[in-house]
Amino acid sequence: MKIPKLQIGNITAELPIIQGGMGVRVSLSSLASAVANEGGIGTIASVGLGDLEILEREFVKQSSGALTKEVRKARSMCNSKGHIAVNIMGVLSNSDDLVRAAVEAGAQIIVYGAGLPINLPTLVEDSPVNLVPIVSSARVANLILKVWDKRYNRTVDGFIIEGPLAGGHLGFSEEQLRDPQNFSLDKILPEVMETVKEYEDKFGQKIPLIAAGGIFTGRDIARMLSLGASGVQMATRFVCTEECDVSPEFKQAYLDLKEEDITIIKSPAGLPGRAIRNKFLKGLETHVKLKIRCPYKCLTTCKITEARYCIARALLNSYFGKVDEGLIFCGQNAHRIEKIVTVKELIAELKTELEAA
Ligand SMILES: Cc1cc2nc3c(=O)[nH]c(=O)nc-3n(C[C@H](O)[C@H](O)[C@H](O)COP(=O)(O)O)c2cc1C
Repeated sequence: MKIPKLQIGNITAELPIIQGGMGVRVSLSSLASAVANEGGIGTIASVGLGDLEILEREFVKQSSGALTKEVRKARSMCNSKGHIAVNIMGVLSNSDDLVRAAVEAGAQIIVYGAGLPINLPTLVEDSPVNLVPIVSSARVANLILKVWDKRYNRTVDGFIIEGPLAGGHLGFSEEQLRDPQNFSLDKILPEVMETVKEYEDKFGQKIPLIAAGGIFTGRDIARMLSLGASGVQMATRFVCTEECDVSPEFKQAYLDLKEEDITIIKSPAGLPGRAIRNKFLKGLETHVKLKIRCPYKCLTTCKITEARYCIARALLNSYFGKVDEGLIFCGQNAHRIEKIVTVKELIAELKTELEAA
């Protein structure tokens, strides 16, 4: 199969692959620029950035400043054809500021998940940045399309359709996750495809759908393209690359992983999430609650009096290599990763498999 390019709004990537945003600090400028240099789209995750001491005093300013730095660094590290996206989670208390910082720093795509992007077009004003919400159902896709049409007379530049096998926070209830027949990526993708048609016609533009969640090989990519996706978003596979920004201990936890170690948690963010059942999570099974000190209230949905741990602290611990005291998010296929490779090697493997499919 000839590998198709991926067009999202005003940009065209050589490869139909987006490296998914991974917070906290898992996908920063090193990983994103390496992916962009190979023809994919690299994504910087905007959650949990900045100098920890300064964050306590100036959370909003410090987070935005750190994001600006990462985006500029990624842009300077990739060639002129490279494309950099920023992932923003709607549940963050500073999400509006992060959107503005990403646009100002020159991000070409805002990928917006974990919350409805109702005001997103207003925040970016008339910047040429491309807006790509993450959805896990045709119902939510339709809601976004309808509101943007009515309020702003515009539409999305694409959707990431994230299925139930993804890593990190998930857009499904625990009940839906137990019903893979009715809530699979294969089922949701055609439903969203049907939903976007009306708006493609109205606005005279294609709305590319990017499939995500559990995509592991070039053959998987080919399958998603054959189902009508314009591209895929992959995250888990990029963790065990040399360029991935996270600690070696985090990568090793992926390599040591067995399928039965992957679990679904109820995150303090108020959403289910997929993670490794490591020492930290096993400890929580016997502790009712860990001590929490909340210096900057990063999540609008986190109820500090009820939360059993601080998710920002737990993710930062893993980033820094203290994995026994940290939360490690992963996709359902993380146990299949066998070794650490370069981004170049991984993309070459995916391309070969995709061409052969
Ligand atoms: C370690 C990790 C952290 C993630 N963090 C975020 C995040 O900050 N924001 C977000 O929208 N998605 C996040 N995700 C989801 C990914 O961007 C991606 O859509 C999903 O994991 C794709 O499935 P895959 O990992 O099976 O390829 C994360 C995933 C992982 C594995």
